[in-house]
Amino acid sequence: MKNIVVLISGRGSNFKAVYETSAKEKWAEIWGIRIVGVISNRPDAAGLEFAQSVGIPTAVVDHKKYEDRESFERDLVKQIEAFRGDLVVLAGFMRVLTPYFVRQYPGRILNIHPALLPSFPGLHTHERALEAGVRIHGVTVHFVSDVLDGGEIIGQAAVPVLAGDTPDKLAERVLKKEHILYPRAIRLVACQKVRLEEGTVKMDLESSEQLAIF
Ligand code: GAR
Repeated sequence: MKNIVVLISGRGSNFKAVYETSAKEKWAEIWGIRIVGVISNRPDAAGLEFAQSVGIPTAVVDHKKYEDRESFERDLVKQIEAFRGDLVVLAGFMRVLTPYFVRQYPGRILNIHPALLPSFPGLHTHERALEAGVRIHGVTVHFVSDVLDGGEIIGQAAVPVLAGDTPDKLAERVLKKEHILYPRAIRLVACQKVRLEEGTVKMDLESSEQLAIF
């Protein structure tokens, strides 16, 4: 699982964090792990420009050009194959994937979700955390399953919810942790130190210590 394809829909700051960590930690030289392509479902995603600026191949599979989800996803799969991707990393990819897509990559699709799952699946997580009055919030990286934001959890990072927080302030605090957690989780999965076996996450003590961030 060394050839990573990143799927984005917008800004791409998580993609950038993964790329920069991979360069700094020399993933390609040490483990043979490479980001082989970035795909966006939106032609105007800012993350595409960053990818191009560092020489990573990009593609757009524009969901608006398809009549249904499955035909969109068939082309997505074709593009991932064209990049020879074997680990699919969702980084702010805002399309719900069907069981058809999920089946193509068993245990090989990761997502980052800006909340401590199983709390607050879905959208507007920071607003909902503030409304609920939780004092600890955060981010989760998980394997993607058929259930939206419901796959097995790989790692989590927590942040405090502070007096005077707005959704934007909280989002910013969480995002800093996303940029630490996601590269770490991706590397451990790519090296198969963390794996999905018969529906359950397997990892050693050292990996689990790296994937619980306070
Ligand atoms: C991130 O906060 C990510 O956790 C969230 O979108 C943002 C994308 O930012 N993902 C989801 O909400 C997935 N449902 P980025 O484009 O700068 O990485």
